[in-house]
Amino acid sequence: MIQTPEEAAITERAVASFAATADPRLREIVQGLVRHAHAFAQEVELTERELLAGLQFLTATGQMCDGLVRQEYILLSDVIGLSMLVDAINHRSDSQVTESTVFGPFYIEGMPERAYGENMAFTPGEPALLTGRVTDANGQPLPDAVLDIWQTAANGMYSGQDTQQPATNLRGRYRTDAQGRYAIRTILPVSYPIPTDGPVGRLLAATGRHPWRPAHLHFMVEAPGHRTLVTHLFNHDDPYLDSDAVFGVKESLRIAYTPLPANDPIARPFGIEGAVFHAHYDFVLPPVTPA
Ligand code: BEZ
Ligand code: FE
Repeated sequence: MIQTPEEAAITERAVASFAATADPRLREIVQGLVRHAHAFAQEVELTERELLAGLQFLTATGQMCDGLVRQEYILLSDVIGLSMLVDAINHRSDSQVTESTVFGPFYIEGMPERAYGENMAFTPGEPALLTGRVTDANGQPLPDAVLDIWQTAANGMYSGQDTQQPATNLRGRYRTDAQGRYAIRTILPVSYPIPTDGPVGRLLAATGRHPWRPAHLHFMVEAPGHRTLVTHLFNHDDPYLDSDAVFGVKESLRIAYTPLPANDPIARPFGIEGAVFHAHYDFVLPPVTPA
């Protein structure tokens, strides 16, 4: 890499201009960002046209955001692996607990609370039942934990993205019972492409990457005295597990759905009389880290 003394002086001056930032963390972040942005331009010998094209790309990314479910900057962070890197940095010591993964842009707050075993699917699909427990790292059940869940319909779209779906379709908040158990009636998750009609889609196309995510359910699990867990459960046999467009797959988050015949004793207590796919998964939450 070539760096002339004049170029080094520009970087030094720009970094130093933030030296008086009162908040030390803000100073560290801004100076680090300037240093790395300059190192990037230096490494690839950025041209003026390329700088302008990059700035126009970022402008278009912002213009694509709608303040509801379309958040093109989260999508950008996800497809360049930045979201998963930050996830890894912030969960280094969580080896005894359920692994986390990307949040993604499609969560909607304030979805209805659902009863134990209630169906959250109002659109067709392969019926599925997910059961399990929420415990602490010592295996103690956590009653009253809340599992906030979101999933796409069989057409690969989330409610909010797809105006044909009821707003609360395939979304809801389930509470664990006194033994820490939860039960969710839904449909089998399907693989789906992340949105490709914006700048992030153009980036993927220009670089020969596909936009697909392996089939999954999203979870945000909360219990008093414990760290909130944001994660997914992936269908274990999905063809995109090894090439997730956002790098979110972890081995421990793969689950197998077993086909149960009609009138199976596992499904009957939930009022399911037909055939259904069943999976079981226990979530383990870390304690709140002492301040
Ligand atoms: C999702 O799984 O909802 C998602 C995650 C990252 C980017 C796009 C979608
Ligand atoms: Fe998703």
